Amino acid sequence: MSKNILVCVAWPYASGSRHLGHIGGAYLPADIFARYHRIIGNNVLMVSGSDAHGTPITVRADEEGVTPIDIVEKYHKEFLGYWDKLSISWDNYTTTMTENHKEVTHDIFLKLLEKEYIYKAKTLQAYDPSENRFLPDRYVEGKCPKCDYESARGDQCDSCSSTLDPEELIEPKSKISGNKAEFKETEHFFLKLSALGEDLVPWLETKEDWRPHVINWAKSFVKEGLQDRAITRDLDWGIDIPVDDLGDGKKIYVWFEAVIGYLSASIEWSNNDESRNWEDWWKNKDAESYYFIGKDNVPFHSVIWPAILVGYGDLNLPTNVPANQYILIKGEKASASRSVGKSLSEYLEEWDPDAIRYTLASVLPEQADSELSDIEMVRRNNEELVATWGNLVQRVFTQIENNIDNINEASDETEVDTTLLKSGEEAFINVGKHIEKVELKAALQEAMRYVSKVNIYLNETEPWKIIVEDNKRASRILYTALTAIDACSNLLSPFMPSTSEKVSNAIPKESNNEWSMNSIKIGTQIETIGHLFKKFD
Ligand code: MF3
Ligand code: ZN
Repeated sequence: MSKNILVCVAWPYASGSRHLGHIGGAYLPADIFARYHRIIGNNVLMVSGSDAHGTPITVRADEEGVTPIDIVEKYHKEFLGYWDKLSISWDNYTTTMTENHKEVTHDIFLKLLEKEYIYKAKTLQAYDPSENRFLPDRYVEGKCPKCDYESARGDQCDSCSSTLDPEELIEPKSKISGNKAEFKETEHFFLKLSALGEDLVPWLETKEDWRPHVINWAKSFVKEGLQDRAITRDLDWGIDIPVDDLGDGKKIYVWFEAVIGYLSASIEWSNNDESRNWEDWWKNKDAESYYFIGKDNVPFHSVIWPAILVGYGDLNLPTNVPANQYILIKGEKASASRSVGKSLSEYLEEWDPDAIRYTLASVLPEQADSELSDIEMVRRNNEELVATWGNLVQRVFTQIENNIDNINEASDETEVDTTLLKSGEEAFINVGKHIEKVELKAALQEAMRYVSKVNIYLNETEPWKIIVEDNKRASRILYTALTAIDACSNLLSPFMPSTSEKVSNAIPKESNNEWSMNSIKIGTQIETIGHLFKKFD
């Protein structure tokens, strides 16, 4: 029976270029997971979009002397280019600037207001007297009250991941002028997390399979007792508040509406085609939802978004929030002006997309931060991808092509052949299990282990040596290897979709199973296949 799987991926701020670390952090793992579920026959809905609001956008617009819309359009377009090149298979990738997103946000806001989970209150907000303006959270910096980190932001501490309110900061300063921030009275809407949090405790208790760093954080955050949080701000860039009680100059806070994007993007996708119904992924109790995010987004996805969902009612809570830690990329060609190394666009010019996907997938920071340097990327490309998988394909295809006239007839399978094919069947089960548990690095290792087994099989059976004296046996070996190669291409296709498709299409088959073994059509002509990957110096 097929399942409905919702794959939600963090909405990137459309305020700057992405780097390889972002790709490995969220988009690639989500894509691997989504592709696998489509392959095994599940109904996948994979959504995200560019986050158009928030201070990262306005800071950038101020720096460049343009409007926030200009910034969003520029980077949204750039992001679409990345997704296309890297084959990130969205069902819907949109933005938070759409009319639909505003409507869905308003619907949720009004429903929560009606249920009294949103209320109005006077509060103090950081204010820069020299600039004569209120300061949004990220414009305030100070010492973290929980861990003493010196440059905690008004909304979050990057050192201990605590979510903060600006007035909790010790010695808060304006990022604009560097002056001490004052706090002035202003009126805002608040989300009653103090009331919503209770329902989350029993729900979190059921999440035994979540990554330890995510579940431990979420549980302790909820058990501390959630504080109500302001969900509007004194700003002019953002989504309008659907009631006009507060007067001008106030908008909905970006973090309240950005997470609603998962729902609004699903509704938008559904509205584009009558045969689709977003409710199958959001209201069907058997549907599953997975949120692929970086660790800095854990509070909002494991606790605050679930609290909003509980308050709204009738919508599924996350099945899992497989947040990643960080991949730190150390480019070799880093110039003085670009301290973070090469840009993603530069990698995309030099590297084949599947080789990038492979190297990133092999170091996914699922439990801890990982580091990836250019030297390590080249090593993994040359020693693992080219030497193991690329060579295997090359070697067997060349043998078959060169001997095609002779290998129409093959002798019966022997034990070594059967063993290789049987371990192929097991590989599908094991790789699948790992992917379902979102252990993607382990899944890739398992798939590559099978590739290595095929190489070992060839080294032991040496078909090229016996091709003259025992042509039928050599044929059997090559066809067994080809069957195994077809399996390898299937096993690797969630990770490297383009090269796997190329290999799979070049193999004449009796069946076309995408997640199990196929039998080869013995005796048919086999197409030449060029080099799959390039080797770097
Ligand atoms: N744009 C924010 C970030 O990059 C939030 C992403 S996830 C969202 O950190 F769901 F909240 F949008
Ligand atoms: Zn801290």
